[in-house]
Amino acid sequence: MRASLMLSPGPLALPARNAMSRGARKVAVIGAGNVGATCAFVLAQKNVGEIVMLDIYEGFAKGKALDMSQGGQVLNYDGKITGTKDYRDIAGADVVVVTSGFPRKPGMSREDLVGKNADIISEVGAGIREHAPESVIVMVTNPLDLMTYHMQRVTGFPPERVVGQAGILDSARMTHFIAEELGVSNEDVQAMVLGGHGDTMVPLPRYTTVSGIPITQLMDTETIDAICNRTASGGGEIVKLLEKGSAFYAPGSAAAIMAESILNDRKRSLPCSAYLNGQYGLDDIYIGVPVVLGKNGVEQIIELELEKFELNSLQESAEFYKEQLSGILGY
Ligand code: NAI
Ligand code: 2OP
Repeated sequence: MRASLMLSPGPLALPARNAMSRGARKVAVIGAGNVGATCAFVLAQKNVGEIVMLDIYEGFAKGKALDMSQGGQVLNYDGKITGTKDYRDIAGADVVVVTSGFPRKPGMSREDLVGKNADIISEVGAGIREHAPESVIVMVTNPLDLMTYHMQRVTGFPPERVVGQAGILDSARMTHFIAEELGVSNEDVQAMVLGGHGDTMVPLPRYTTVSGIPITQLMDTETIDAICNRTASGGGEIVKLLEKGSAFYAPGSAAAIMAESILNDRKRSLPCSAYLNGQYGLDDIYIGVPVVLGKNGVEQIIELELEKFELNSLQESAEFYKEQLSGILGY
């Protein structure tokens, strides 16, 4: 007898594709370039729900979405992934990750990107305000703290619903350098970097531990200083090596971690660029501090007890961005 497939008499009652992933959540990623696509790919592997990538180059977004969808079989994920250039397709997004904009090239600082990227953020912000007015925005575009402020102003969203990615990346870089130096797993190192995402960032060795042991007990001051300096110029080190753009695996993954904490209301405690209104003695500024991220966006700002010199460094970092906000962006 010939082997044949056993066909069922009627259509199988399988759940719809989206129903297979938990809940009906939706995330939009604006900019399907290096960071945006990495972020979408990490989110897909976490089965967060529907993912829409929007880019001015529609085929670029659609092609990446199709490629990523086909990866679902290999890596065991199911959510719907699409590409578009039409803002109507982001309607209903719970989280919008914004990566659209120019990355820097060798010799450029992040702040050199302000002019071009502010115009892009104005356009993208208008699209989000109209089509995803209830979303939480995770900003990635550089210069990060300035573009996050600009996005909040353009959308008029409550400040807690606009948050920037930087601290997770900067802390991950510090973590990696410590793990490498001590010969321990990345997983056991917890680092803390506050301040702006630039040369003025503030690595905090006092709040950095290996399985709970402060690194100040495991390394000499010279080594710690060298690691802090390498962390502060960590983005530039990669720009120099790549020559054609900036880092994207760690940044895209960091943005995905934030989006996932918001989508799943995980309340993860993470360093992010958040709007300060008196905390740390700072007012009307976005800067990196530890926050709690849940479905409402920034649900808490954690105020660490800082030594005088640590607080001074944070305030100096904020001062630098205040000058840029008024001087370049006219706020
Ligand atoms: P990329 O050039 O690979 O991707 C940017 C994408 O944005 C491109 O596909 C482009 O077509 C798209 N785009 C440009 N204008 C647009 C518009 N008006 N609407 C929709 N899409 C638009 O650049 P990459 O490497 O992905 O970097 C993106 C941004 O993220 C840069 O500004 C970069 O400096 C920043 N970045 C920030 C990090 C952070 O930690 N906050 C870390 C790494 C990068
Ligand atoms: C980074 O730190 C360029 O902001 C980007 O890699």
